[in-house]
Amino acid sequence: MAYEIDSIHTPAFVVNEAVALRNIAAFQGHCDKVGLKLRPHIKTHKSIRFAKAQLAAGAVGITCQKISEAEAMLADGIDDILITYNILGSSKLARLRALSDRLAALSVVVDNSVVVQGLGQAFDGASRPLTVLVECDTGAKRCGVQTSDVAVELAYQISNTSGLIFGGLMTYPAVGMANDSAQFMRDTKQLLDEKGLACPVISAGGSPDMWTAAPDGIVTEYRIGTYIYNDRSLVERGTCTWDDCAGHVLATVVSTPTAARAVIDAGSKVLTSDLLGFPDFGHVLGHPEISVVGLSEEHGVLEVDPENPLKIGERVRIVPNHVCVVSNMFDDVWIEGEGGSLVQMKIDARGCVI
Ligand SMILES: Cc1ncc(COP(=O)(O)O)c(C=O)c1O
Repeated sequence: MAYEIDSIHTPAFVVNEAVALRNIAAFQGHCDKVGLKLRPHIKTHKSIRFAKAQLAAGAVGITCQKISEAEAMLADGIDDILITYNILGSSKLARLRALSDRLAALSVVVDNSVVVQGLGQAFDGASRPLTVLVECDTGAKRCGVQTSDVAVELAYQISNTSGLIFGGLMTYPAVGMANDSAQFMRDTKQLLDEKGLACPVISAGGSPDMWTAAPDGIVTEYRIGTYIYNDRSLVERGTCTWDDCAGHVLATVVSTPTAARAVIDAGSKVLTSDLLGFPDFGHVLGHPEISVVGLSEEHGVLEVDPENPLKIGERVRIVPNHVCVVSNMFDDVWIEGEGGSLVQMKIDARGCVI
């Protein structure tokens, strides 16, 4: 059933479908041009509908961060998933093995030998071995082996473990460090070549550097999430424009206690406390003079121009600083179609932290 914008409750998460599909097509076109395989990360939309749109546009598979996300994405046509996380513990390993039986291709990443051992025990005797990539820390300072030598040791361990296949290298480069990251991958690939270990995939990712991804052809596959909706952080970096922002929070002004203050019904439970380096909590579309200066759980405090105040009952659209965390806060998203009509859609993989 389709609704008009004024008739839906707020706060609401709204995604303009035409803009999201345009964003998918634009980066798929870029990847096709530069010879990169695209494996979008579902962390932003968390929805089967948009994963299918990405695959239909030419993506080779999808990326998930957690097993429960991958389980939530199981659907016709979604049959190749990379989980970019060290998976530990008997219950998760059992779920991983069951997941593998339901997919055409499943791969995971590791950055230490304990995780390799656990995966080996879980997949020993499996009819189809599990593909395992080695995660490299190329500057983002999160997970990942610190040197090419350790990457090669882990590649050996994977190759020598029954039930596992070494699939290649994976990294999540720091913003602006694609070139340094590529050098790490190139050095590691050379060592692997010297040892006779085939490295079919080199996977990198990230939206901020998407247009300069794969600087010299060493990267074979790109994982990207935020680009489908875009957000304030990507506009700030110059990666996209406000017109490319498909996702926003629709909120209603519920109070104007002073001439310079308006309060909306979207607080930290909606916009989240993710500042991402900004001094305030989002960009109010069409109102560059307004700042979202404070949030409590259910209230957002806006600093407005007293000469140009907001009215009680007025609605505003806010582009979040970081859109991925916002889509995790809602059970449903409103898909905005032609002419502004809205259809409610479940966010399939929200809240999937296991
Ligand atoms: C492992 C991994 N790959 C890819 C991505 C996608 O990054 P972005 O949302 O910047 O496109 C992320 C984001 O957190 C990630 O953690």
